[in-house]
Amino acid sequence: MSKESNKPQSPEEFRDSDSVHVNKIHQRIVSREQLEPEEGFEPTPWWVWAISVLLLFAMGYYLGRYGGSWSTVAHEVEQPSVGTAAPAVRVVKGDQIFIGVCQTCHQATGLGVPGQYPPLVGSEWVNRDVETPIRIVLYGLEGPLTVKGDSYNNKMPHFHDKLSDNEVAAVVSHIRTTWGNNAAPAKPEDVAAVRSQHGVRTPWSATELATLKSAQAP
Ligand code: HEC
Repeated sequence: MSKESNKPQSPEEFRDSDSVHVNKIHQRIVSREQLEPEEGFEPTPWWVWAISVLLLFAMGYYLGRYGGSWSTVAHEVEQPSVGTAAPAVRVVKGDQIFIGVCQTCHQATGLGVPGQYPPLVGSEWVNRDVETPIRIVLYGLEGPLTVKGDSYNNKMPHFHDKLSDNEVAAVVSHIRTTWGNNAAPAKPEDVAAVRSQHGVRTPWSATELATLKSAQAP
């Protein structure tokens, strides 16, 4: 049979014919129907959007839950005290609060700056009754003051509205147990008691503090 013949062919004849290449025809159909996709113009698949939106929500939630409102002491506040490890946790926290809050004035050495910021090392205001340093940290201190025989007349800010009972206890414990200081640590309950005794008040004078101290038992 020749390809010039106009006689209709049966499928068998068509497939077997020498002149018609079935594969070639298929090839043409296949390549016409499945156009190669052009790079850069594919629509973004829906699941990419879905995952992006989910990730955004997850990140937002995480920041809201654990971001601590961008506070610098956020990560020092809520440390859980686990069993017997509680005192160690308290010392670490006090250390961090001291660095963040007190160190600019009283210095990392606790020695202060002569004539301006009194030393905490060996200070009679730090190392006797636990209430005195708590009172100072909560309400501040100003006016004439003598520390280890040296005179000061400066002003320390208050922290009653900036530090929690836990944080005041931690930082007071820190200054009473560091640089060779060896006084009893402060408890959050001590801070709460001082707060309820004085409420919100103006900074102390050294005279007021001394009077309060001597009014206490032993
Ligand atoms: C802005 C500087 C400043 C910061 C911050 C500061 N203090 Fe003071 N502090 C002073 C000054 C000044 C005095 C002395 C005030 C005076 O002359 O009457 C003082 C006095 C004291 C005293 C009593 C005197 C002594 O040397 O023992 C203690 C205790 C004390 N500060 C602890 C702290 C602690 C703890 C912190 C952090 C929570 C802190 N201070 C943060 C400036 C500061």
